[in-house]
Amino acid sequence: MGNIIKKLFIGLVVGGALFLLSRWQEFPFVFQVVFFGHAMFGAAVFMLLDAPSVKTMGAVKSTIAIVVFYVVLCTVFVAGASMWPQFDPEDEKGKIVKLLAPKRAATEQGKAEELIARTKALDEQVKALEVRLRTLGADQPVAKQMPVGGAPPVVAKAPTGDFMKIGEEQWQLHECYNCHKLKGEGGKKRGPELDNIGSYLTADEIKQKIFNPKSYMAEGFEKEWEKGKMPDKFKDVMEDSEAMALATWLSTFKNTSVNTPKPIKKL
Ligand code: HEC
Repeated sequence: MGNIIKKLFIGLVVGGALFLLSRWQEFPFVFQVVFFGHAMFGAAVFMLLDAPSVKTMGAVKSTIAIVVFYVVLCTVFVAGASMWPQFDPEDEKGKIVKLLAPKRAATEQGKAEELIARTKALDEQVKALEVRLRTLGADQPVAKQMPVGGAPPVVAKAPTGDFMKIGEEQWQLHECYNCHKLKGEGGKKRGPELDNIGSYLTADEIKQKIFNPKSYMAEGFEKEWEKGKMPDKFKDVMEDSEAMALATWLSTFKNTSVNTPKPIKKL
C-alpha cells in the first residue's frame, strides 16, 4: 500500500511538472491536460507492476481475455477520440466552412464584379451600335438618291468614312469574299472578281443583286446564275441600311484593269 501511494505521489509530481512546463511553453490547455494524463497513466502502470500476478489461464480463457481487452481498449480509444471536439466531422466541416467563407465571398464578389464590368462593356458596344444604326437610317434616303456612278453620300451627321467602313464590314461579316475576289483577296473562283463592279452598276443596282441574286447575271457565269450559286439569304440576314452601305462601298470599285464580268439585267 505504501508503495502504491509513493508511486501515485511520484506520478502527481511528474504530471504536475509536465503540466506547468507545457503551460510555460504555451501549449494549448488540452495538451497540458494530456501531458498530466500521461504521467498519471505511467504511474498507474508502475502501480500495476506491484499487483499480484494473475493466475495462469487456459488457452481459451486467455484468448478470450485478450480479445475482450482489445475490444475494451478500442472502444475507449474510439469513444474517447470522438468526444474530443476536433474529431467531430460536423465540427470540422463548420471550421472549413468558416475558413473558406471569406475566400468564397471574395471570388464570388470578383466574379460578380467581372460580370458587371463585362455587361457594362457590352452595353457600351450596343449603345455605340445603336448610334451607328441611327445615323445609317438617317443616311438611307440620301444614299438612295445617289447619282449613278455611286459617289459616296455626303451627310453632315455621319462621316462618309463610317458609312464606307460599315460597307466593308458587311463584306467581311457576310463572307462575300468566300466567292468573290476583291483587291486580290479571297474568292475561290466560285464567283467573279468584283474590283470593277462600280463601272457597271450603281449602288442601288448592286443592292438589288445582293438582295435578289436573280436580278442580275454575271456574263460568262450563266450556269452558276441558273444554279443559284450566289446565296439569296442576304435579304433575310441584312438590314436594308447595311446592304446599302455594302453596295455603296462596292460601287466605288472601278478598277478597269480587273476583268469583272458584265452584269446582265434579268429581272
Ligand atoms: C457562295 C458563293 C457566293 C457568295 C457567298 C456571294 N456571291 Fe456574289 N456571286 C456569286 C456567283 C457564282 C456570281 C455569278 C453568277 C451570278 O451573277 O449570280 C455572283 C455574282 C455577284 C455579283 C455580280 C457580278 C457581276 O460581275 O455581274 C455581285 C455584285 C455579287 N455577286 C455581290 C456579292 C456580294 C456583295 C456578296 C456578299 C454579300 C456575295 N456576292 C456573296 C457567288 C457568291
